Amino acid sequence: MSAIEYIESHQEEYLEELKEFLRIPSVSTKNEHKPDIEHAAWWIAAKLRGAGMEKVEVVPTRLHPLVYAESAQMSGRPTLLLYGHYDVQPPEPLDLWTSPPFEPTIRDGNLYARGSADDKGQLYLHVKALEALHKAAGQLPLNVKVIIEGEEEIGGGSLWEFLVENRLRLKADALVLSDTSMLARGVPSITYGLRGLNYYQVEVAGPSQDLHSGVFGGAVPNPITILAQAIAKLHDARSRVSVPGFYEAVQKISPSEREAIKRLPWKEQEFRKTVGSPDLCGEEGFSTLERIWCRPTLELNGIWGGYTGDGAKTVIPSKAYAKISTRLVPNQDPEKIARLVEGRIRRSLPKSVSCEFKLLSTGRPWVGDCRHPILQKGSCALEKGFGKKAVFIREGGSIPLVEQIDRMFKIPCVLLGFGLPDENAHAPNEFISLDNYFGGMKSAALFYQDVAVR
Ligand code: BES
Ligand code: MN
Ligand code: MN
Repeated sequence: MSAIEYIESHQEEYLEELKEFLRIPSVSTKNEHKPDIEHAAWWIAAKLRGAGMEKVEVVPTRLHPLVYAESAQMSGRPTLLLYGHYDVQPPEPLDLWTSPPFEPTIRDGNLYARGSADDKGQLYLHVKALEALHKAAGQLPLNVKVIIEGEEEIGGGSLWEFLVENRLRLKADALVLSDTSMLARGVPSITYGLRGLNYYQVEVAGPSQDLHSGVFGGAVPNPITILAQAIAKLHDARSRVSVPGFYEAVQKISPSEREAIKRLPWKEQEFRKTVGSPDLCGEEGFSTLERIWCRPTLELNGIWGGYTGDGAKTVIPSKAYAKISTRLVPNQDPEKIARLVEGRIRRSLPKSVSCEFKLLSTGRPWVGDCRHPILQKGSCALEKGFGKKAVFIREGGSIPLVEQIDRMFKIPCVLLGFGLPDENAHAPNEFISLDNYFGGMKSAALFYQDVAVR
């Protein structure tokens, strides 16, 4: 029996197992989910053992455990390093989910649940592809090493420490992962570029405590107003980031890449429908895809302070806060960008407030070589798995590990994306299409087989 036939005859089982995985609310940001995080780590570790991995470890870290596995290493065979994350984003707001986030439900050929696409479903299809290869032939055709982390969604540092400490035993010929999206439904895609990410929190403090806004208003500086004014200065009227030096190191988009992006089967109409915003915006002189994939940005992720409950409360707040992020592209240096953003904000603030600026997490941008032979193998596997030609894309999201592995081991990174642009990752009603789950599984199996023959 071939691996593909094995997958086809085990679809029901492989779907039920994914549902079981998705029922574990492994939310990495929240302390109350610590037992669920542990549960998810041990659950996936057991499945790796079932998929033919010889060594499987749940590695304790300072925060959430990492799962590491190795197949029996056969000399002379290529080695692939597989990556995924078992942690998920918080599901809130709960009332906007059609079915509860941790009760996986199928509607119209899509499986809805938190983590279905990001990343449990995309990770699990690799585990099942490996299992099918192992069961169908009695052994795997190549060497596999697997790292599954539980801190991806919080930009945690445990993975980096693990990489540094285990540099030698992690040696591989290529990295493979599925934690990205297809350009559109039915368009299998390989991602060769990701943006980097710096995430900041700003706290602006004025009066030592909240004050009655009638008794004191007019004579005391208001931290919300002051923070809002500083934030308003971070962009100009034409959607450019007005932090001096922000664009300085940015690599130009080459004419050939521009052409390739233009030729992609992508419809702005679909994009507009997905975002549901009355209008789009962005830097002049760049297309929507260029704005998302190849240009750096600064985004406000949250802003709060003062009174936000029901009705009115007249108050001058003592403090105001904002969460800000910058998406980075080659060759911007995250540390330098953090200093520039902090400097710009500090210079906007009057003496009447104090400010605390924190860099919460950081990750570098990554662009790989889309002509590498192993990417051609990826592309062939996708074409066979989906019956359609694959495209090469960049994406705007961030997976810091990819750049870290590329820098540390100088190996090609193969990003086979089985999510969809409208999958609702990080939002209510996240889903994975069942066609992509099984098509991805078959493609992954074909890819492993093809890589095995060198
Ligand atoms: N899987 C995503 C990243 C992603 C999504 C890349 C879609 C390309 C297309 C990942 O789980 C994620 O959400 N990353 C965070 C950054 C992380 C350091 C918190 C992001 O991009 O905001
Ligand atoms: Mn992810
Ligand atoms: Mn994510």
